[in-house]
Amino acid sequence: MAIITSRTDENGRISIAYDRCNSCGLCVKVCKDFSLIMDDHLPVVGTQPLFGCMACGQCMAVCPTGAITVSGREMSPADKIDLTDMKDKPSYGQLKNLMVGRRSIRDFKDKEIDEELIDKIIEAAVSAPMGLPPSDVHLVVIKGKGKVREFSFDVLNYFDKIRYLFSPPMIGLWRLTGKESYKLIKSFAQPLLKFFAESKNKQENYLLYDAPLAMYFTSSPYSDPADPYIPATYAMLAAESLGLGSCMIGSIHPMIRYGAKDLKKKWNLPLKAPSGIVVIFGFPKYKYTSGIRRTFAEVAFIPN
Ligand SMILES: Cc1cc2nc3c(=O)[nH]c(=O)nc-3n(C[C@H](O)[C@H](O)[C@H](O)COP(=O)(O)O)c2cc1C
Repeated sequence: MAIITSRTDENGRISIAYDRCNSCGLCVKVCKDFSLIMDDHLPVVGTQPLFGCMACGQCMAVCPTGAITVSGREMSPADKIDLTDMKDKPSYGQLKNLMVGRRSIRDFKDKEIDEELIDKIIEAAVSAPMGLPPSDVHLVVIKGKGKVREFSFDVLNYFDKIRYLFSPPMIGLWRLTGKESYKLIKSFAQPLLKFFAESKNKQENYLLYDAPLAMYFTSSPYSDPADPYIPATYAMLAAESLGLGSCMIGSIHPMIRYGAKDLKKKWNLPLKAPSGIVVIFGFPKYKYTSGIRRTFAEVAFIPN
């Protein structure tokens, strides 16, 4: 049976042009589904795959002679990208400089972002890995400072509606969800919602900081909850390389996840998305002259 996602319930179909095949077997080696097996020095479509071809496209991408194509599950042979002109890869040093020099940007110049840059960000973000192909990530792109502000105030108005859930009489109930989440609600969510309500009344936008662009990445009930965060991170790095600043905004999705039907309909957001993250983009108003050394909670090396 094919692996079901919100986009497909079929298997991929692998075609092999034997007049081009050089029998190297790379397609069989990279396929971890056993959709392809070697038979008498030639790759053939196997009859006992693990799940059935999920159209990851690896066989098509690794084949040095272009003998393999995959169709179905939203993939077509046209999805193969020629890498001939894409040999220039950033060095580790270049990539690290980009990453270490990146800061979360919350102050933007009053300047809109060209369509061309938006397309480039999406083109990079969509190349991110996903739990199961085809990606179940749903992306809403909110263009222009005016629209981002409208979305922000719609969300802030919704926050106001549900603020009673974080009020003193209700707050005790959050203990039932665990000590840690109770402490977080009390120390973070409760004061944040109060601040949002007060700043909203002054027409201030501390939610999306009046950025000229916002992208809302969400998962589907079928996908890995981690899926939206990965293209969101790619998008941030792409933006950085294009001279834009960005900031992830995680405070929206957990608050609207179970409700906000009208808001979701208005902004084309999926009604059921277990996880989601917003990224805002814009031209940074201020220049940061230093990076910041960061640490993980722990790095535990297990000796070999
Ligand atoms: C998952 C996630 C959610 C975040 N949510 C918010 C947010 O709601 N509002 C905000 O201003 N920044 C948010 N941030 C940005 C962090 O606050 C920021 O990454 C952190 O302060 C470190 O700063 P730096 O990115 O400049 O290193 C978020 C970052 C991540 C990774």
